[in-house]
Amino acid sequence: MQLTFGSFPVLVASSIEMAKQFLKTHDHVFASRPQTAVGKYITYNYRNTTWAPYGLYWRQGRKIFLSELFSSKRLESYEYIHVEELRAFVSRLYALSGKLVLLKKHLSRVTLSIMSRIVLGKKYFSESEFETAVVTLEEFQQMLDELFLLNGGLNIGDWIPWLNFMDLQGYVKRMKALKKKLDRFHDHVFDEHKSKMKGLMEDFMPKDMVDLLLQLADDPNLEVKLNYDSVNGLTQDLIAGGMDTSTITVEWAMSELMKQPHLIEKATEELDRMIRRERWVEEKDIQQLPYIDAIMKETMRKHPVTVLLPPHLAQEDCNVAGYHICKGTRVFINSWSIGRDASFWDEPKEFRPKRFLPGKVDLDVSGQNFELFPFGSGRRMCPGYSLGLKMIRSSLANMLHGFHWKLPEDHMKVEDISMEEVYGLTTPRKYPLVTVMEPRLPLHLY
Ligand code: HEM
Repeated sequence: MQLTFGSFPVLVASSIEMAKQFLKTHDHVFASRPQTAVGKYITYNYRNTTWAPYGLYWRQGRKIFLSELFSSKRLESYEYIHVEELRAFVSRLYALSGKLVLLKKHLSRVTLSIMSRIVLGKKYFSESEFETAVVTLEEFQQMLDELFLLNGGLNIGDWIPWLNFMDLQGYVKRMKALKKKLDRFHDHVFDEHKSKMKGLMEDFMPKDMVDLLLQLADDPNLEVKLNYDSVNGLTQDLIAGGMDTSTITVEWAMSELMKQPHLIEKATEELDRMIRRERWVEEKDIQQLPYIDAIMKETMRKHPVTVLLPPHLAQEDCNVAGYHICKGTRVFINSWSIGRDASFWDEPKEFRPKRFLPGKVDLDVSGQNFELFPFGSGRRMCPGYSLGLKMIRSSLANMLHGFHWKLPEDHMKVEDISMEEVYGLTTPRKYPLVTVMEPRLPLHLY
C-alpha cells in the first residue's frame, strides 16, 4: 500500500512475501532510516544506531554491539546480575502477596535494574527515600517514558519540512528539554567511569558497557573514531532499546494467560515436572521448557512490541515485486497484521501457545522467518535480540513458577481484561494489568 504523508511517499508492507522482499531480497536498499527531529535533537545528531543513516558510522556501532557488548561470553558474564535482580523482584512480589499489584510497575523496575547494572555498572537511581542518587527511580522512569513518547510520536515537521520551524505540537521543545536532562545524567555517569579508569590506569578492566564504550572511544584503530556524542548515543540505544520492550512483552503474556487460566496450569505443570518446587528457574533450564518458550512466541506473534517496524528508508530507486519504489520512500513493515494473517495462522485471533510446541509450527524469532519477526530481520535487525529474549524468558518462567496468579475477584472478571493497545514506537497495553498473587514455592525461597 503506498500513501503520501505530507511531503513523502510512504509504503506499508503487510504480507509475509512483501516483508521478505524489503527485509531480505532488497534489504541493502532499505537499510537506512529517515532523518527526524528525534534523531537530531535527542540522539546526539544521529550518533546512536537506531536513527543513524546506513553507512560507516552505523556499521561501526552495530559491530561494537554485536562483537563486543552482546557476545555470548559477555552476556554470560552478566548472568549473576539477572539472578540477583530476579530474586529481588520475586521477593518484592512476595511481600505483596494477596494485595492488588500493578504488574507493569514491578516489571519496569526489574528491567531497569538489570539494564542499568549491565550498561552503566550500577543502579544510578535511588529506590527509596533513604538513598541519595543522581535521580530517583521515578525520575529515571519519567525520562525514559518521555524518550519513548518522543521517539514514537508523529512530529508534523518531519513530514512537512517547511512547517518545521513552527514546532506545531511542541515536540521539538520537549526534545530539547529532555536532551538537557539526559546530558546531565550521562555526564554524571561518564565522569564517574572516567575517574575510575584514571585511578586504575593499566589495571583497568572494563566491567560494564559504558566502560567498554569509553575505552573504545580512545581507540585510534577504529575505522570510524568515536567521540563523546557517540558514547552518549550508543549508551542511549542500550538503555532505551532494552527497557520498555521486555516489560511490554511480559505484561502482554500475563494478560493473555490471565484470560485463560488453564494455560497457566499447563505452564506450571511443565515447571513442576522439570524444575520441581525447591528452587527457581535458571538460565540452563530454559531449553527444557518448551511450553514457556511457546507462550513467549505466541505473545510476540499476537502482540509484537513494534507493530510497525521503525521506518526503513529507500536509498535508491528500486523495483520490488514489479512495483517501482522511489528513492526516499519510507517503508513501514506491519508485523502486527503478518502475525494475524489467516492464510498462514490457524485461528490467528486466538492466543494458543500450543501452536508453537515441538512438531507444530516450527519457527524461531531469530529473523529468519518472515511469518514471525518480533526483532526485525536483515541488516537493521535488533542487535539486543539475545539479551531481550533472555530477560523475557527468565522473568516469565520465574513469575509462573513462583506464584499463583489471580484477577482481583471482587473487582473484575476474565472478560473484563481489556486488550486495547496504545500505538507508538512500542505498543503497550492501554490499561495496565492489575493482579493478585500468592506464593507457590516453599517460603524460604522468597
Ligand atoms: C523484547 C525485547 C526486544 C524487542 C522485541 C526488540 C525489537 C526490535 C525491533 C523490531 C527493532 C527494529 C528492527 C528494524 O528496524 O527492522 C529493534 C531495533 C533495535 N533494538 Fe531491539 N528489541 C528488544 C530488545 C532490545 C535490547 C535488549 C536492546 C539493547 C540493549 C535493543 C536495542 C536495539 C537497537 C539499538 C536497535 C536499532 C538497530 C538498528 O537500527 O540498526 N533491543 N529492536
